[in-house]
Amino acid sequence: MLHSAVLNVMIKAAHRAGRSLKRDLGEVEHLQVSVKGPRNFVTAADHRAEAILREELAKARPDYGFLGEEGGAHPGADKTHRWIVDPLDGTTNFLHGIAHFAVAIALERNGTVVAGLVYNPANDEMFVAERGKGAFLNDRRIRVAARARPGDAIVACGLPHYGRGDLALARNEIAAAQRAFAGLRRFGAATLDLAWVAAGRLDAYWERDLSPWDLAAGLLLVREAGGFISDIDGGDAIMQKGNVVAGNETMHRELLRLLQEAGKAAGKEAAEAATSQ
Ligand code: IPD
Ligand code: CA
Ligand code: CA
Repeated sequence: MLHSAVLNVMIKAAHRAGRSLKRDLGEVEHLQVSVKGPRNFVTAADHRAEAILREELAKARPDYGFLGEEGGAHPGADKTHRWIVDPLDGTTNFLHGIAHFAVAIALERNGTVVAGLVYNPANDEMFVAERGKGAFLNDRRIRVAARARPGDAIVACGLPHYGRGDLALARNEIAAAQRAFAGLRRFGAATLDLAWVAAGRLDAYWERDLSPWDLAAGLLLVREAGGFISDIDGGDAIMQKGNVVAGNETMHRELLRLLQEAGKAAGKEAAEAATSQ
């Protein structure tokens, strides 16, 4: 598989950051038993990975802008191109020594994602896509699953974090999805959830309260794998709103419908609770 020059730059950067994270995961496993635990070490690992990505990407494209989860925004001289980077997606998994995490890199041109990469260094799975050129896992073409019956589908989701998010809404959404689909999963790395939809492992996925670096690479992977992806209102403002629904055409439509119904029901319950007080 011949990649474009820019994708080769992204792959090289992800391999280098991935090697650093993989080494650090070994240390995290030791630190589980220490009194202080691995938290500070993981924060440092995360920053190290972002510094590597920034250095590698700037070496090849010095003028591009850069948005990283840890270091924030660095505008470049070239206003048309911007990297969007999550150096370690799935931090909580990493912190617990769970080998399900990823490096994610996207390239935006004039506000549109034109290249995306999600790399899990623990099992060396590299998902890449370029606009109009398809999506690949370790150089093999990937497609979204063809399953059309919700009763056969495995669907992933996110869950509101400790002390955050709308718990009542999440409960309604999860209950609706449990009634409709064969099984629900919560893996803990949004970039991999999207990559796994692209690879046909998951039939659909939804999550709220995400950031651009959780979404940019994966949304291109899903589209280039023939999938459908939108925000939870069914529109295109995925990165702006920070919420997402993805799947093949049928699963995307079905999940969107369920989530919108669950949202209405949660709104009604909240209004009833407010008036009965
Ligand atoms: C998180 C993961 C997780 C999702 C969170 C994200 P991080 O990213 O993608 O699956 O549920 O909302 O913030 O913090 O591990 O980079
Ligand atoms: Ca993330
Ligand atoms: Ca992160």
